[in-house]
Amino acid sequence: MTTCCKSWILTLPLLFLLALPALAAEDEGGAAGPAKTVCQQCHGGMQGRLGAPVGDWEHSVHRENGISCHDCHGGDPTDFAMAMSPDRGFLGAPEEAEIPAFCGRCHIGVRDDYLDSKHGRALGEGGPQCVTCHGNHAVQRASLALINDKDCTRCHSFGRAARIRAALASTDNKIDDLEKAIDALRRVGIAVKPLRGKVFSARNNFHRLFHTVDVDRVHEGTASVQAELDKVAGRIAEIRSELSTRKLWGGITVVLLLVAGVLSLLLRKTYQDEEREEADR
Ligand code: HEC
Ligand code: HEC
Ligand code: HEC
Ligand code: HEC
Ligand code: HEC
Repeated sequence: MTTCCKSWILTLPLLFLLALPALAAEDEGGAAGPAKTVCQQCHGGMQGRLGAPVGDWEHSVHRENGISCHDCHGGDPTDFAMAMSPDRGFLGAPEEAEIPAFCGRCHIGVRDDYLDSKHGRALGEGGPQCVTCHGNHAVQRASLALINDKDCTRCHSFGRAARIRAALASTDNKIDDLEKAIDALRRVGIAVKPLRGKVFSARNNFHRLFHTVDVDRVHEGTASVQAELDKVAGRIAEIRSELSTRKLWGGITVVLLLVAGVLSLLLRKTYQDEEREEADR
């Protein structure tokens, strides 16, 4: 066996030793995130409606943002025996009519828009609530895909839903385009943080608008969000034109330098020719 392979075999155990701490960490709490709470441990081992929430929640936007069982349901996530005691703030599972308040503890603006809407006013009388549209445990990042023929026609026709969707869609496209333009600026070394911040806040205000389910209010709100976005678009256009003027001057400088180079070559050549002629004489 050559020496190269012997030393390679010797490194193997070493690599294994180096990997040990990482493997141990994996055992404790999973690759990402903190150790499991008692809620996850006990419910994770149960079947049916008591066990399902754990798997659904694993892939949710809430899990991604560190919102766990006890953040919604209350209770003590560290004590097996007392976990679901009302003394430890356990709230249980909300009834249908309580859900907007339950979710609205954290999503205050959405809750207010919703309660004020035709949907909110029909709560408990056939109107949809948060979970009807977003689900309870498998909540995903919100998008216009939630407004679709299948989900919105359970209770009424799609006509009004389609108008709201259309009003929102044009703004959605605008936001996408701006985000792409901002990325392009970032790639050529422009500081884009303030621009990004403006688009981000306009985007949040805009995504909330839906809950009014009021075509007129969506149009009004869309107008002010669009005005915000137009300002960002104007600033991007300015930066681009500054960049292209810089490029133009860069181009002109290169051409001038080339011309100067050619001229000096020509001059040198005539000079040398004259010298040669002089020497010939
Ligand atoms: C030792 C096991 C165990 C632990 C720990 C535990 N649960 Fe439960 N949980 C149960 C069982 C069993 C039920 C069904 C019987 C009942 O409602 O008491 C239940 C029911 C529930 C319900 C439904 C209640 C309802 O009104 O229908 C919720 C919500 C819930 N648990 C959340 C939690 C949360 C949040 C935690 C952690 C703070 C937690 N559980 C910890 C075993 C557990
Ligand atoms: C974003 C808030 C939220 C989080 C996080 C959350 N739940 Fe729930 N959970 C709810 C809501 C809302 C309901 C009532 C749902 C309904 O009526 O559709 C509910 C219902 C339940 C129920 C009763 C199910 C039934 O069919 O009776 C159990 C059990 C439960 N949750 C356990 C958990 C466990 C365990 C976790 C953590 C893995 C968890 N929940 C995380 C919001 C949440
Ligand atoms: C009729 C269906 C429906 C109901 C009811 C509903 N939503 Fe939404 N929600 C949507 C749609 C559709 C969007 C995405 C709109 C968009 O992309 O412009 C959304 C967006 C969101 C967002 C992201 C926007 C933001 O401001 O961060 C949150 C959070 C949210 N909903 C929470 C809730 C809560 C909490 C409730 C109950 C109070 C609720 N939703 C009720 C359909 C619904
Ligand atoms: C304890 C606080 C808390 C509760 C209660 C809560 N959420 Fe959230 N929710 C968050 C946080 C934090 C995020 C991630 C940050 C963000 O995007 O707003 C989030 C994100 C979301 C999003 C994605 C927002 C987006 O930008 O697309 C939706 C939709 C949502 N929650 C719906 C719900 C629903 C429905 C309920 C009730 C079943 C609920 N939330 C209960 C804290 C909470
Ligand atoms: C669980 C039943 C239910 C579901 C699901 C539902 N709606 Fe509604 N919707 C209602 C009720 C009830 C009203 C109020 C009575 C009416 O105007 O028909 C309403 C009214 C509306 C209105 C009219 C508001 C106004 O100012 O006149 C719009 C727009 C609307 N819904 C859009 C949607 C969209 C978009 C979805 C799907 C994301 C949806 N709805 C899903 C029950 C529902």
